[in-house]
Amino acid sequence: MLLTLSPKTLSSSSSLTLHKSQNPRCNKSPNSARFKSSKQRSHPILVKSEVQIERDLEFEPGDTFFRHESATGRDLGVLSATLYKRSNGTLRVLDAMCGCGIRSLRYLVEADADFVMANDANDDNRKVITDNLSSRVERGNGDERRWVVTHLLANKAMIERYMVADFFDMIDIDSFGSDSSFLRDAFNTLRLGGLLYLTSTDGYSSGGHRPYNSLAAYGAFIRPMPFGNEIGLRMLIGGAMREAALLGYHVTPLFSYYSYHGPVFRVMLRVHRGKLHEDRNYGFVTHCNLCGHSRTLRFDELGLMGCPCSDTKASSSLVVSGPMWLGPLHDASYVKEMLELAKELGWIGEGTGVDLEKLLSIMIEESDPRLPPGYTKMDEMASRAKMNSPPLKKMMSALVKEGYAVSRSHIIPNALKTDCPMSNFVRIAQENLKS
Ligand SMILES: C[S@@+](CC[C@H](N)C(=O)[O-])C[C@H]1O[C@@H](n2cnc3c(N)ncnc32)[C@H](O)[C@@H]1O
Ligand SMILES: [Zn+2]
Repeated sequence: MLLTLSPKTLSSSSSLTLHKSQNPRCNKSPNSARFKSSKQRSHPILVKSEVQIERDLEFEPGDTFFRHESATGRDLGVLSATLYKRSNGTLRVLDAMCGCGIRSLRYLVEADADFVMANDANDDNRKVITDNLSSRVERGNGDERRWVVTHLLANKAMIERYMVADFFDMIDIDSFGSDSSFLRDAFNTLRLGGLLYLTSTDGYSSGGHRPYNSLAAYGAFIRPMPFGNEIGLRMLIGGAMREAALLGYHVTPLFSYYSYHGPVFRVMLRVHRGKLHEDRNYGFVTHCNLCGHSRTLRFDELGLMGCPCSDTKASSSLVVSGPMWLGPLHDASYVKEMLELAKELGWIGEGTGVDLEKLLSIMIEESDPRLPPGYTKMDEMASRAKMNSPPLKKMMSALVKEGYAVSRSHIIPNALKTDCPMSNFVRIAQENLKS
């Protein structure tokens, strides 16, 4: 059979709980028959179900997997979706693992999506999703149809759409663990210039405790490093880069967000046509457990691995992870647009839940292209300097005065990102801030 596909077109927390009945419960990652039989075996622990309000939207999670702590991740997704709709005039979203449908609802109502496909493999979720969506948005018919609810494995949902050349502007995959098997189908089903919102919840892999797992999932051999949670974001972006290159695309990270609830690693990627022949932002990170120095290494520098603190080139204190994304975690101008939009929507300020302004402002700081991967925890630096942990602001000014780039980290409060080598960092702290 000859299959013809039309070409892709280029295109340029707050949560409040009210009471009612049922329970947030983690569903195992479904996998066709395995998913069905685990569903049949499961005995849900029934707890009180609750009516939730996120931003201004009321919905019921019912017996689906729902976490109100993920509201910030949803806020960030809605901000991106809204910016996309405003600049492209159109927005079709595939919410591949929609749970109770809260994201789909928010994309429809807040980002004014033209159409949302709300998919969750678990068909027990159907009534909850349908009730939540229909409570605020009329489904519509034919060309006017605003949403549809399906119960397919995410891969199947995407492949089916791709096969009929039904492309999406944004695909949101809120998956568990480090399942990367969705990447290829997502790239195929996404419009060029479209947005891919990816998730990983595998803190063991980012922490370097399952290097063969991260290797299989993202093509990155990850070892324990003191900034594992940033590595988790870079590993996820790197895995997507590799898969994109295979299909002749490349991706740019618009923002990366780590949340300790879970933990959850989320990245928003824009997908472009054409693979990059040489990507200086894809490579390795090294960390020396002896002196605390970290650096990046490209593929063509692998033979030069070593740490200045060691006499010999080969040092057992040196840990290497990668390949992964080495460039900025976010696109500064894009995050500035997100911040402006959040202000416009009234999401910034007192009583609006998680401090989005602070989060987005730190992300803008972190986007400085001079900043290498990783961060230094003040306590670690202080113990090397044999002094008390210095105040973050004073340390930042001291580093800037010496000509280094520096920013806070959205991942951990008491740490700094800087291009200052650890030995100088320690010296500057001792000279300026030792009490
Ligand atoms: C993290 S929960 C989704 C939460 C939801 N997106 C939210 O923001 O509240 C993941 C959902 O994915 C569904 N799921 C897991 N594996 C899937 C797969 N391979 N395909 C489609 N759905 C899947 C589960 O039934 C579960 O409802
Ligand atoms: Zn060293």
